[in-house]
Amino acid sequence: MPSTNTVICGDCLDSLATLPAAEAGLIYLDPPFNTRLRRTASTSRSVRHNREATTPATYADSFGSAPDYVAYMRPRLLAMRRVLSAKGSLFFHSDWRMSHHVRLLLDDIFDLSNDEATTPGVFVNEIIWHYGLGASRAGRSLLSKHDVIFWYANSPEYTFNLIRQVPTAAMLRKYSHTDEQGRRYMNSYGKRYLLKGGKPLDDVWDLPAIAPTASERAGYPTQKPLALLTRIIQLASNEGDLVLDPFCGSGTALVAAQRLNRKWIGIDANPMAVEIATQRLGR
Ligand SMILES: C[S@@+](CC[C@H](N)C(=O)[O-])C[C@H]1O[C@@H](n2cnc3c(N)ncnc32)[C@H](O)[C@@H]1O
Repeated sequence: MPSTNTVICGDCLDSLATLPAAEAGLIYLDPPFNTRLRRTASTSRSVRHNREATTPATYADSFGSAPDYVAYMRPRLLAMRRVLSAKGSLFFHSDWRMSHHVRLLLDDIFDLSNDEATTPGVFVNEIIWHYGLGASRAGRSLLSKHDVIFWYANSPEYTFNLIRQVPTAAMLRKYSHTDEQGRRYMNSYGKRYLLKGGKPLDDVWDLPAIAPTASERAGYPTQKPLALLTRIIQLASNEGDLVLDPFCGSGTALVAAQRLNRKWIGIDANPMAVEIATQRLGR
């Protein structure tokens, strides 16, 4: 078994086979979306982090037809479910191109369409990440400004930590008193009710994509924001759990896991991704 807090270079299909079963508390994967493009970093930051690099970081994102994409993903997802712990969750990050195929595939991987399955998994949520900046389609269609993240779990006992939104102005007006410990409360029929926070988080997340000048930008194409991965990891794992990202790119999930005191393992087939992720985690 590879040690934790490490980034492995290789096809995740091979690397997952070296991991023990039922160890990962959370798996986040953000694989290529089958854009049929060669993805290239949009800034030259990669040169800053890879002093030896003379070309920007790139990776291929072309898998042929939807059935070809599904056939590629199936054995990798089966390998991921093998390493997912009993209380573990898997988050699959996708977009409009393949998400409808991925959803059916995940139902299958988690045995939701198999009445005979003795330990079927659970579909938890379809999360819409609305990012504002970045990818879009123009012309005779609406601008495309969201990704889809499917959340599946191995069992109904999956780890779940409620996250509340920031209280609205109306809630703050209602809970207008403050007690000795600085907590807001309201009085009703002689009883005191503490403000627990805003409404529980819903499944549409407005979080900005990484701005071109953001300090967290590592110069890797399709790098995701730390705020997104921080939220996912807080929601579905606890301190000390192992977070696994089998398509880790620049290592965003690993950086968020490290900051939140989780263990982590990243895998990527592209040596330049492994180099960038390793440098980010070393800092
Ligand atoms: C969308 S990027 C991940 C970006 C990452 N979430 C981030 O924030 O930087 C997808 C990554 O999957 C990697 N990849 C593609 N096929 C792979 C495979 N079979 N095994 C492991 N990594 C793979 C690519 O090299 C690329 O770095």
